Amino acid sequence: MKAGGVACTDLVKSFGDPPIDVIRNITLNVKRGDFVAITGRSGSGKSTLLYLLSGLDVPGSGQVTVDGERLEALSPEDFDSFRNERMGFVFQFHYLLPELTALENILMPARRSGRHLEKKAKAEALLDQFELSHCRDKVPGKMSGGEQQRAAIARALILEPHFLFADEPTGNLDSSNGETVMNIFEHVNKTLGTTILMVTHEPDYAARARRQIQLVDGVVAEDSDA
Ligand SMILES: Nc1ncnc2c1ncn2[C@@H]1O[C@H](COP(=O)(O)OP(=O)(O)OP(=O)(O)O)[C@@H](O)[C@H]1O
Ligand SMILES: [Mg+2]
Repeated sequence: MKAGGVACTDLVKSFGDPPIDVIRNITLNVKRGDFVAITGRSGSGKSTLLYLLSGLDVPGSGQVTVDGERLEALSPEDFDSFRNERMGFVFQFHYLLPELTALENILMPARRSGRHLEKKAKAEALLDQFELSHCRDKVPGKMSGGEQQRAAIARALILEPHFLFADEPTGNLDSSNGETVMNIFEHVNKTLGTTILMVTHEPDYAARARRQIQLVDGVVAEDSDA
């Protein structure tokens, strides 16, 4: 059975010398197709947990399994292509490449796996769907914050990943643009079955996820599924 969600067992991560545990023995199971909000105060470990679950960071101990693959068991090359093909990432700041147009940015993951020609029509469709057609040939510096973030989401979705990881995706946006991002996430989760793990400070946005997980000092303090 390859298809699966995201799971971790006895996850521990510490930083510093002497080491301080910022993730303390977290065991979680996120079902395929679920929409999970991770909440908690600043410093509670939300970003760290998200990075561990998505393989952007490695745990001190414990295991992470994504789509049936144990991340630590993959070679660096296999992990790179696994991540590029199956996981999309959206951050508070968009990290679009400043010298590329919206279209080129959106196609970047496809380019990395040699599929940019095949995916061009899909990129154009995403531009249209996210009301970005007028930005097609603009560099990020000439786009608004909301437009940049929608382009970053389109880039995360171009290869139709099974998983979308988002760290405060609305954190840098006004409420109207934040609302648009949430609508996109809900739509993607419902129509494509994309599993979404989203860190957010906003209680209203967290409430729109199906499951809410609250961290306090690196442990799961509340879990709406528990
Ligand atoms: N690379 C690092 N080196 C040292 N300490 C770190 C590092 N990354 C995170 N930390 C510490 O780990 C703790 C958890 O950080 P994390 O970024 O996961 O918090 P967060 O819940 O995402 O907070 P915020 O809501 O402010 O983004 C914090 O105390 C932070 O200072
Ligand atoms: Mg954070």
